[in-house]
Amino acid sequence: MVKKRVLTGHRPTGPRHIGHLVGTLENWAKIQNTHECFFLVADLHVLTTDYAHPQSIQENILNMLADWLAAGIDPQRASLVLQSAIPEHAQLALLLGMLATVARLERVPTYKEQVQELGLQPSLGLLSYPVLQAADILVYRAETVPVGEDQLPHIELARELARRFNQTYGEIFPEPEALLSKSARLPGIDNRSMHTSYGNAIYLRDTPEETTRKVMSMYTDPTRIHPNDPGHVEGNPVFAYHEIFNPNREEVEEFKLRYRAGKVGDVEVKQRLAEVLNARLAPLRERRSAFIAQPKMLMEILEDGTQHARVIAAGTLAEVQARMGLLRQRPFKTNSISGPKN
Ligand code: TRP
Repeated sequence: MVKKRVLTGHRPTGPRHIGHLVGTLENWAKIQNTHECFFLVADLHVLTTDYAHPQSIQENILNMLADWLAAGIDPQRASLVLQSAIPEHAQLALLLGMLATVARLERVPTYKEQVQELGLQPSLGLLSYPVLQAADILVYRAETVPVGEDQLPHIELARELARRFNQTYGEIFPEPEALLSKSARLPGIDNRSMHTSYGNAIYLRDTPEETTRKVMSMYTDPTRIHPNDPGHVEGNPVFAYHEIFNPNREEVEEFKLRYRAGKVGDVEVKQRLAEVLNARLAPLRERRSAFIAQPKMLMEILEDGTQHARVIAAGTLAEVQARMGLLRQRPFKTNSISGPKN
């Protein structure tokens, strides 16, 4: 049986946090058993907002790779791919850009938010962010794209571009489908959504002590002043974490009853959370530190996956160029242009 093809990825913005773990990485580790998977290190996408900090990209890539592998991504089963090393991503993005109107791209909600946040004149690169993302997916003719809800507008655009291409030039792209992760989004320790730039994340690379310290400082129920005040469990991130990380369901239910009745303090609930979270993260941390100590091996894993992926990407691009009426070129020989022409 042919496996369905999956492509998804992250921008290498630094080490992964436990929100990435339960929201995406655990799903990736599962889907690599049943699908042909490509996990993309979307370094070109980083430049759409962060082009002025080239010195951090390499380190961020290594940290992200170590976290991916620690979370169970297996290079024997999935291809890890470096976006910028495969020129076909950018080439296909250029060609798909012919089919995307500026008005359509200006309506993409993530673009509108970014423009507001940045307070700068938006670049062409930022406007075409979702066109590049469509190229990432379509260059492998991937059918399934596991993503969080925030990415749905981008997948919608990829579907539109696939349809428009197929209608204009004949069917070559499947319409990719988003696969939404079922686990709820994990709140940060301040109860906003967990985000690297908010300083409210617990990282896979945090030590047990740092993790405990962050848990003990977590936002709980602001209406509760004393341990014997009745507390709220809903909207309380400490309980959201217990639901996900505490394998002892009975204990969680008992904590909830006692909390609502004002019969347990925040400290006890948090201490127990720190314990179960540290127990859960311990094996990951061990694998992570083994991987991060071997940057050469990490780069080799990325090179292997990238080489495998490039063959497929090149095949798609040749087909796209032909359909769009571009002339077939002989492979470019660098040694034939070494001397002057006449
Ligand atoms: N935009 C995605 C994010 O910020 C990353 C990404 C780039 C991606 N290319 C992709 C995700 C292709 C899915 C498919 O998380």
